[in-house]
Amino acid sequence: MRDAQPSTIYLSDYEVPAYLIDTTDLAFDLGEESTKVTSQLHIRRNPASKTSNAPLALHGTELDLISLAIDGRTLDATEWTQSGEQLIIADVPTEFVLRCETLIRPQDNTSLEGLYKSSGMFCTQCEAEGFRKITYYLDRPDVMSVFTVEIIADAQRYPVLLSNGNLSATETLADGRHKTVWQDPFPKPAYLFALVAGKLACVEDRFTTMNGREVALKIYVENKDADKCDHAMASLKNAMRWDEDVYGREYDLDIFNIVAVDDFNMGAMENKSLNIFNTSCVLAKPETTTDAGFQRVEGVVAHEYFHNWSGNRVTCRDWFQLSLKEGFTVFRDAEFSADMGSPTVKRVEDVTLLRTAQFAEDAGPMAHPIRPDSFIEISNFYTVTVYEKGAEVVRMIHTLLGPELFRKGSDLYFDRHDGQAVTCEDFVLAMEDASGVDLGQFRHWYSQAGTPKLAVSAQYDADEQHYTLTVKQSCPATPGQTSKAPFHIPLAVALLGEAGQLALQLQDGEPNTETADNTEMVLSVTEPEQSFTFTGIHEEPVPSLLRGFSAPVKLDFAYSREQLLCLMRSDSDGFCRWDASQQLGLAEINQALADLAAGREVAPDSAYLDACRDLLADETLDGAMVAMMLQLPSEAYLAEIFHPVDVIALHRAREALRLAIAIALQAELQACYERCSSDAAYAADAAQIAQRSLKNTALAYLMLVDDDSARNLAISQFENSENMTDRLAALNSLVNSAAPYKADALQRFYQNWQHEPLVINQWFQVQAMCRLPGSIDRVQALMAHPAFDIRNPNKVRALIGAFCGQNSVNFHREDGAGYRFLADQVIVLNRSNPQIASRLLVPLTKWRKYLPAAQQLMCAELKRILAQPDLSSDVYEVVSKSLQ
Ligand code: ARG
Ligand code: ZN
Repeated sequence: MRDAQPSTIYLSDYEVPAYLIDTTDLAFDLGEESTKVTSQLHIRRNPASKTSNAPLALHGTELDLISLAIDGRTLDATEWTQSGEQLIIADVPTEFVLRCETLIRPQDNTSLEGLYKSSGMFCTQCEAEGFRKITYYLDRPDVMSVFTVEIIADAQRYPVLLSNGNLSATETLADGRHKTVWQDPFPKPAYLFALVAGKLACVEDRFTTMNGREVALKIYVENKDADKCDHAMASLKNAMRWDEDVYGREYDLDIFNIVAVDDFNMGAMENKSLNIFNTSCVLAKPETTTDAGFQRVEGVVAHEYFHNWSGNRVTCRDWFQLSLKEGFTVFRDAEFSADMGSPTVKRVEDVTLLRTAQFAEDAGPMAHPIRPDSFIEISNFYTVTVYEKGAEVVRMIHTLLGPELFRKGSDLYFDRHDGQAVTCEDFVLAMEDASGVDLGQFRHWYSQAGTPKLAVSAQYDADEQHYTLTVKQSCPATPGQTSKAPFHIPLAVALLGEAGQLALQLQDGEPNTETADNTEMVLSVTEPEQSFTFTGIHEEPVPSLLRGFSAPVKLDFAYSREQLLCLMRSDSDGFCRWDASQQLGLAEINQALADLAAGREVAPDSAYLDACRDLLADETLDGAMVAMMLQLPSEAYLAEIFHPVDVIALHRAREALRLAIAIALQAELQACYERCSSDAAYAADAAQIAQRSLKNTALAYLMLVDDDSARNLAISQFENSENMTDRLAALNSLVNSAAPYKADALQRFYQNWQHEPLVINQWFQVQAMCRLPGSIDRVQALMAHPAFDIRNPNKVRALIGAFCGQNSVNFHREDGAGYRFLADQVIVLNRSNPQIASRLLVPLTKWRKYLPAAQQLMCAELKRILAQPDLSSDVYEVVSKSLQ
């Protein structure tokens, strides 16, 4: 909590550290009342620092200082001062050992940052600046040190004691206590430190690396969860092999540990050789976990593992460079997941997240470049921009260089910077040096916020047989950035003719060698306005633009309905096919809005319905693609398109349209449902996931009709399915229907799964997301349910987060009850867990998008939060910036 106005930190103020810490020896005496932390730091002045007699200023917060000594001499209280988060020792030698004893209270730590307790075990989360809650330190990523960690604890309560690196000693002590010592040979910043102590089951496996190193793989979980680790273990081994095959990266220690904890602010953390995970990102078995859950486990396990190179071996110089490790690692895990499953489905899912959450962030009050220039609280910058847009920027480099040169670039980057803390600029430079490709203008992607807009128009000259694409780029102003320099945008294109894709030859261009068959090309858009003329085009083609979503931009091209139908039916690019279906869906929604406003019945266009009918009937198509194409653009996506957003009118139009589609295609939906039902034993593979996804999309449509036959399907699926994907899909459609059985279903679901917290979270979420009126009352009632706990972030996200973030029609209730509810929860969480409070707040910060009446109500709640005493820097930053 702040005592003064929190201050802004600027990238331009970066200075190298005045001191370095060569070795860090920590001793933890873990107790039920408090924990004593003793540190011995071998410190020396940094020869690279310009300030020759700077005082030693260590970070530390919420610590009880017991003693400080330099080279064995205890300091008295006049020899140091404390100010804010800093402990300052004015007079220190050029090289010395600092010994420091502090007392902390992990059992009272509800922020889940630093050392804390979760379900009876001790664990840590130090990124970004949590280590300073453990002991006084230079808590910044460019200070790297070799850690030795001694842990003493009660042997009964905490039989498992873990830290980074290798176990070097264990000892049984008097009074039922025991001790372990861990040594990590790799120098690392404090944010990668980890400690775990608890009563945990261990699931073990082995992996042999490309050079024959035998690695012990261990997943530590509560005893009751030992049967839910197989998928995480298989994913880990796949990720280890993939990083060898695709990036030539080998694991570098003899042991790799994963620990699952129930209370965790984010998904997981890549601490060196001791990854700590949210249980939701490790545990999976068919009876308790949906397909999406399985895929999340696979993706997050891989993400954290990949950080061992992109994050740990090469880390960030400062937190402004966060996207250096996060953007790159998200790109790596996305490519991995694409290789393990369906590449098109993975791409569409990622684009969907980007075009909803990230575009919204980029257009809102917290907009920032992937490398921010300033922040108040770094925890607020673990964003979809830094992560997902950051990954898109790395993907664009991959596209511009091609896979071989990109690999040369990553090899050079890892080789050149192994063991260092570096910047985004170092990454781009390695890519340039290895490839010879000029990324000068491309660097604007790192420094400029906002989503660029590409307005494309086409002209066909039949006499010359020329086809010209004219591309105009622009980028809206964002906070602190009024005008933007043009970006370097890779625009992947193809031209569809009667008989397929046309061969592409640019006028005055080099012969096209991009693709084996010359029919796809990546245009480098660099000017505010630019034309590309293709020669030898014998017919007027349909352009397939931004193939694979080759850049994170909003593309505008005035397609006719016929052109969109053509793309939707026959484009070879999965993203473009899907996107055409979304644009057609958007046109239908616009028509439905007009129909409802004029008091007419909503009637979908017959060509659109025919296209949907064909999708449903074509058994040769990928079921997951069909499922995605049959879904109308989400309300979150619509909120990015309409200005202002009339939430309730959009919701009504979209729902009326869905119902009309369901009625028109009822027979086909039923046939599709039956075709996709199968008795095969559950597997989380692409084929089965696709089939379930199509089946449950059909069920959701059928349940809109809500007749007896649909209800019977849903009830029997709910009662008889053996996997959580199908059971939850059935529950979800029942809860959103008028079926009297739904109360029973909810009750039975709870009875059956009350012993599984992750399943109960899904039960909370289904109810929180119910579109029917009255959801807010249910959510409020559920907050008093014995299974709810506001200290557990997963439960907060499942109930409060899902309601406020994914149930627009109820959150935006016209009387403002939703806004008031969210502000109340933010005020409570601000005290216990500021990171969660500030994340939860995001829906309110988008107030400028909505109708004037909603704007006023939302604004009033933001002001009420801002007026609270003791606002955390996390909440203060988000609220104050969104009111500016
Ligand atoms: N580095 C982690 C990951 O992306 C995220 C941890 C950040 N934690 C936090 N509390 N800000 O894998
Ligand atoms: Zn990460």
